[in-house]
Amino acid sequence: MNLSIQLAPENKKGLKLANPVMTASGTFGYGTEYEHHFDIQKLGAIVCKGTTPEPREGNPQPRIVETTDGMLNSIGLQNIGVDALIIEKAPVWAGWQVPVIVNIAGSTIDDYALLAAKLDKVAGVAGLEVNISCPNVRAGGAEFGANPDAAAKVTGVVRKATSLPVIVKLTPNTGEIVRIAEAVTAAGADALCLINTLKGIAIDIKEHKALLGNGYGGLSGPGIKPVALYMVYEVAKSVDIPIIGCGGITTANDAIEFLMAGATAIEVGTASFKNPRAPMDVLEGIEKFLLQEKIQDIRELIGVAHH
Ligand SMILES: Cc1cc2nc3c(=O)[nH]c(=O)nc-3n(C[C@H](O)[C@H](O)[C@H](O)COP(=O)(O)O)c2cc1C
Repeated sequence: MNLSIQLAPENKKGLKLANPVMTASGTFGYGTEYEHHFDIQKLGAIVCKGTTPEPREGNPQPRIVETTDGMLNSIGLQNIGVDALIIEKAPVWAGWQVPVIVNIAGSTIDDYALLAAKLDKVAGVAGLEVNISCPNVRAGGAEFGANPDAAAKVTGVVRKATSLPVIVKLTPNTGEIVRIAEAVTAAGADALCLINTLKGIAIDIKEHKALLGNGYGGLSGPGIKPVALYMVYEVAKSVDIPIIGCGGITTANDAIEFLMAGATAIEVGTASFKNPRAPMDVLEGIEKFLLQEKIQDIRELIGVAHH
């Protein structure tokens, strides 16, 4: 049975994964946090916490609220910063079998260029995932990823600054995700990941104010799956680079739906908080499905819902 897939067919280095199961940024730390739960080396790839040029403390508490079918978070990109990541984390990853992809986030175009340049040629870093769901401080705080031109500009500077495979992670908080996917593809992305969290709020009815310290947050978990699946399905019709599906994936069946909608790989996010073994359970469930259905190669499933 073949489970391996290629996420960057046009890139010199390529990004070959032993299987399509990845972890979503911000839900799996730096990988090491989950090592005692299962053999993380068996995963397709690990995507680390969003990384910024400087260390960040994140947003004021409370930063997490449970919802009926998921959660709202406003972590605010708390992270150790790119320099500490290069010194402390990358050398550990360099000894791993599983590829690690660094998720990068900036407040300006220059931040993204700097992060990409610093991480280029760092042993242990197999690729970059560019989070463009961040406010552009030079454009009144509008998300880079909400506009095709800004999204393409970020992609272009990252592309120029690195020879690593570049995955651009799209935000669902826009009415034009297909146009943004096309713009980012034209600007040199090797692959796309969709989706990031949906903007949402919760209100404390006793205190008459927003529950999250930051006012609003990002919605994730099972409740967003149909939205994410629809976006993957629509984007798959108009771009031909690999797509990583993400959003509410909790079981192998969820993952298979994303593959059938046109995703080449998938990321497991919020599900890991409830069940730290979720990515492994998803992988084992996919293998079982392929055996049951007598499918020799996972790639036979990609996009079949379009036929
Ligand atoms: C607590 C938390 C932190 C997150 N941090 C990041 C991040 O740093 N960078 C990023 O691109 N996405 C981040 N995300 C978004 C997830 O990677 C994923 O796109 C989203 O949660 C949808 O998938 P899910 O429903 O499976 O969680 C975060 C999500 C959660 C719940």
